[in-house]
Amino acid sequence: MSTTTGAPAPLRVAVVGCGVIGRLHAEVAARSADLDVVALVDPHDERTAAVSDELVAAGSRAPRRFAALADALAAGGIDVVSVCTPSGEHAALALEALEAGAHVVVEKPLDVAIEPARRLRDAAAARPGQVVAVISQHRHDESALAVRRAVDAGRLGRLTSAVANVDWYRTQEYYDSGEWRGTWALDGGGALMNQGVHTLDLLLWFLGEPVEVVAYTARLGHERIEVEDVAVAIVRFASGALATLHASTTVYPDLGVRLQVHGTDGSAVIEADELTFFHARDAEDGDWKANQAAEEVGGGATGSVRGALDPQESHVAQYGSSHDAQWADVVGAVREGRAPWVTLDDGLRALATVRAVYLSATLGEPVRVADVVDGRYDGVATRTGASERVGTSA
Ligand SMILES: NC(=O)c1ccc[n+]([C@@H]2O[C@H](COP(=O)([O-])OP(=O)(O)OC[C@H]3O[C@@H](n4cnc5c(N)ncnc54)[C@H](O)[C@@H]3O)[C@@H](O)[C@H]2O)c1
Repeated sequence: MSTTTGAPAPLRVAVVGCGVIGRLHAEVAARSADLDVVALVDPHDERTAAVSDELVAAGSRAPRRFAALADALAAGGIDVVSVCTPSGEHAALALEALEAGAHVVVEKPLDVAIEPARRLRDAAAARPGQVVAVISQHRHDESALAVRRAVDAGRLGRLTSAVANVDWYRTQEYYDSGEWRGTWALDGGGALMNQGVHTLDLLLWFLGEPVEVVAYTARLGHERIEVEDVAVAIVRFASGALATLHASTTVYPDLGVRLQVHGTDGSAVIEADELTFFHARDAEDGDWKANQAAEEVGGGATGSVRGALDPQESHVAQYGSSHDAQWADVVGAVREGRAPWVTLDDGLRALATVRAVYLSATLGEPVRVADVVDGRYDGVATRTGASERVGTSA
């Protein structure tokens, strides 16, 4: 597909779910010459109308508006479907889009349950011409890229351990703001499934294959939610490396995210998306404790690059613009016929590790991540809090 000027025509995007993150996806598409939002889908008409108004105000054409994805797909003219609904609907909607012939972008987490996520992965494997990407925008942060480069080059030596702390605060109003929030069925978990999965994905990206998890979870700072607001876990990796994972939405005041990666020849620390400490033995200049972080990221901004829209008016202020980078990768994957940077396997591995945490906390025993992926725990209900342990009945 190309325009009369020879440039490829923009990919026609349908945004499914016009809440907080759907609006961001629409903004990202609106500022990209490679993307054109042609359809908005949400059962709440006022939400598609509000996003449409914003797109028109930004100079885009008014997209068509639909109450259900099936209607949008039936109307045709869609190249990419962006799934931005509550997490428990992700895999089913992505599968619907895939089977209609569209490329798919799925917001994190891939889903809340393994079974539909696995079905999606298998269906996508049978359709290699279609791109399916899972959003994990922090992999595009300069800080994360610098750490991954160092790991790949062996500059940190043998990776031995990591400490991942997601020390966030979410008000009770946040959980009350959407009926799906804090439910097992649609949020699929709390501090770890919804908020911590970003940092967990980076942890897996740096340390490799997770083997086994031991965990506890608790709900201590919120009411009217089924899921945890504190999750603490130990993860053992195939390399032998060990990591601790602490994800909370009840840390007051909010202390943000900190991820430490340690090896025999170096250490890296990412705080609030910035590379705040980096030291590798190969760059030592007589001072073995010197912080080499500035050199590692070229002395520029280390976190997400800020977007062009007015930060006051846009979700860019909250989410940075790594979504732009991930969408650019999706465009490249579609046009070049290659895999996207964050694949279904990546999304499934992160989801299975989160599920392993919940299963371990529920069952009171270590859980192997491969067993979760393979379906050994399909149908096992998970619960929050040690006092609510349940058995393995479906
Ligand atoms: N990548 C990130 O940084 C990031 C940030 C926030 C949210 N998210 C993810 O995005 C997803 C949505 O979160 P949110 O905060 O935007 O929620 P939200 O409640 O603000 O928006 C969800 C929207 O989906 C709509 N919806 C529900 N079922 C639908 C269906 N079947 N078809 C079409 N629309 C439907 C709802 O009416 C609602 O408008 C979640 O999975 C969340 O984990 C990702």
